[in-house]
Amino acid sequence: SKGTYDSYMSKEIDEQPAVLRRIAKEYYRDQQPVISPDLIAEMKQADRIYIVAAGTSYHAGLVGQELFEELANVPAEVKLASEFGHHLGKLSQRPFFIFLTQSGETADSRQVLVQTKALKYPSLTVTNVANSTLARESDYALLLHAGPEIAVASTKAYTAQIAVQAILAQALGQALNYQPKHPIDVLNQLGLAANAIQTVIDQKDKLEKLTEDYFDKHDRAFFIGRGNGYMVALEAALKLKEVSYIHAEGFAAGELKHGTIALIENQTPVVAFILEEATAAHTRGNVKEVVSRGAHTLTIAKKSLAQSDDTIVLDDLNELLMPLVAIIPGQLFAYFAAKHRGNDVDQPRNLAKSVTVE
Ligand code: F6R
Repeated sequence: SKGTYDSYMSKEIDEQPAVLRRIAKEYYRDQQPVISPDLIAEMKQADRIYIVAAGTSYHAGLVGQELFEELANVPAEVKLASEFGHHLGKLSQRPFFIFLTQSGETADSRQVLVQTKALKYPSLTVTNVANSTLARESDYALLLHAGPEIAVASTKAYTAQIAVQAILAQALGQALNYQPKHPIDVLNQLGLAANAIQTVIDQKDKLEKLTEDYFDKHDRAFFIGRGNGYMVALEAALKLKEVSYIHAEGFAAGELKHGTIALIENQTPVVAFILEEATAAHTRGNVKEVVSRGAHTLTIAKKSLAQSDDTIVLDDLNELLMPLVAIIPGQLFAYFAAKHRGNDVDQPRNLAKSVTVE
């Protein structure tokens, strides 16, 4: 039940610290990741990992792709299920397919699985629903342990998907005896992430006020960032669109000047994510560009890169895992904007929880 909450979405946003702690409990013994040896043996053979997903799960896959490359040194790419199924392209010699799907029922993802099975390629479904179609039809399944996600807009499944991919990437890297250039203590990071998320959730009053200032009187908004900041920008924009119906776009900060900056007018809301040391200065430069065209900018920065005028400062995690905490303000903006507009937060128009048509 919703308990004291006004919507499942707000309840599920708040559950995220507990979900990360549960995932840590489920997947670690004596500080070591526990993944089925058969699955790891199969993945060790792969020369490339294809992550297949839709919507929010696709955005979680963008983060996962980097984790597999960094922690296991296996080339990885994420594919939109609705596109990939019709354009498989030239696959690598020994592909391994990961289907990321909260519901395990998404028809676009399933039609890719049907094809990769016919080609006899190995597959794993990472899902929140143990007995779902994709979990049953793929060779292996890993559970998100997020608990039932009732709100149509996916929140806790996104953070859970990033966490489970990080654990799997760590386990694969260890099995391959790969020494990452920048090792990540994933278990420790999940604990830090749970605390960092709670710190954002504890600032709900501030986030509601920011929603009034930035989104309530506007029909459109931009989210920009680079690297992981770009990945989070895409997901923050999707959340805002689907529940508040504000036209939001996530953009690579450096790409704005190649056309889209023409849309920036006086008071256009622009949210910038500054999450990576390597690109922070460039993204700040892009913020200046939109400020000089009148944009109403809001910056979300990680503590070690923060400046005194940043709007929201996030506790530091390993850079690859910053999306776990950076998405929380985006989820809360979407929730408050929808609520302020009087929308049905849990059942946005035109949407269904699982999309069982292609
Ligand atoms: C967005 C949302 C959708 C789903 C997408 C994939 O909040 O819920 O974009 O993420 O339909 O669904 P699953 O993960 O069930 O395959």
